[in-house]
Amino acid sequence: MSVEDIFHQYLESKIFKQREKLLPDYVPEELPHRDEQIMTLAKVLAPALSGSRPSNVFIYGLTGTGKTAVTKYVLRKMRESSQRRIDYVYINCRQNNTSYRVLAELAKHVGVKVPFTGLALGEVMKRLIQGLERQRSIIIVVLDEIDNLVKRQGDDVLYFLTRVNEELSNSKVSLIGITNDLKFTEFLDARVKSSLGEEELVFPPYNAVQLEDILQRRAREALKEGAIEDDVIKKVAAIAARQNGDCRLALDILLKAADIADREGASKVTLTHVDKARSEIEKNLAVDIIKTMPLHVKLVLASIYLLSKNEGSKMITTGLVYDKYKELVNKLGMEPVTSRRISDIINELDVVGIINARVISLGRYGRTKVVSIGVPLKNVEEGLASDTLLKFFLESM
Ligand SMILES: Nc1ncnc2c1ncn2[C@@H]1O[C@H](COP(=O)(O)OP(=O)(O)OP(=O)(O)O)[C@@H](O)[C@H]1O
Ligand SMILES: [Mg+2]
Repeated sequence: MSVEDIFHQYLESKIFKQREKLLPDYVPEELPHRDEQIMTLAKVLAPALSGSRPSNVFIYGLTGTGKTAVTKYVLRKMRESSQRRIDYVYINCRQNNTSYRVLAELAKHVGVKVPFTGLALGEVMKRLIQGLERQRSIIIVVLDEIDNLVKRQGDDVLYFLTRVNEELSNSKVSLIGITNDLKFTEFLDARVKSSLGEEELVFPPYNAVQLEDILQRRAREALKEGAIEDDVIKKVAAIAARQNGDCRLALDILLKAADIADREGASKVTLTHVDKARSEIEKNLAVDIIKTMPLHVKLVLASIYLLSKNEGSKMITTGLVYDKYKELVNKLGMEPVTSRRISDIINELDVVGIINARVISLGRYGRTKVVSIGVPLKNVEEGLASDTLLKFFLESM
């Protein structure tokens, strides 16, 4: 196929009207089934319109429940509906996952130059205070996926930002902290926790009916009329509803299915396209999870993988896994982790679904745990092989 063909096919798409409307970062004109959250957040932030500092807000809910979309939506509406300049800055703490980078982003927003690295944190804070003061306004700081920052670097920045108003006379800072991981609050200083949580906003998961409605509307914007088979949206909504009501997953599947249909030159997105999209996404997910595992977790998984590949139908007990793991570690000339740690690793692998573990009874010999690989073997192989050390190793066994 030539480059022209590719462009031509795109222009001639029978499926897409505006593909970008299905992309994850696009914030749609309406966010159905989030009225309550939108209204609450709007009420909390409204004082900024008359020049008083809004309370800090802590937003939490599972992944794909619309936290980021709602926050961006409300801030955008607020800016549109006001004569007063509403000052806000959005910082994603997964991309900016150090204290330094978060402060540097903030500094950039208020027109203060901070080098990419090198200054002491205290110095950055000092310059930031001067910059904030010069703004003479209320600055709403959104810290999205805030758990990434806190787990990595503690809560120094949050402590600073929840206290900074005491140092300011012309400006005020309000915080919106967003997370899908409630456990991270254990890492927070009690004072930080209470001031960040002046207001709290919970995002419940979407159910299948709500997801269907959301997808219906997004599809209407993005796809040509009649370019989707009747049951497709229902099916996609049902899948995502089972995955904790994750709207991002729903949109991912829909977009991928539409892409596959488009590539095939089909005139409609069908259930077959949904199935293909789903297995592609699941594969990527498993491979990605494996790629980012720490070495010893990979080694335990590699042991189970080798046992499943070579021993066929034989039951893989944790005892066999220990032995295999020790063999691998030995060959690498490394120190093994403790048996206790190995059994924790086995549990972790089970929780994320890469393996299945269950306890079986051996009659009078007691009980033992047996494991099996929970995703296609070739995905495990692909994930493990991204580690060059392991790749070499697996090939030689
Ligand atoms: N009510 C809705 N209507 C239309 N689209 C929605 C709605 N809720 C969420 N979405 C879309 O679903 C996707 C996921 O939403 P969002 O990014 O806001 O999730 P999140 O709660 O921030 O998840 P995470 O915790 O993983 O960051 C986005 O593409 C968003 O546009
Ligand atoms: Mg988000």
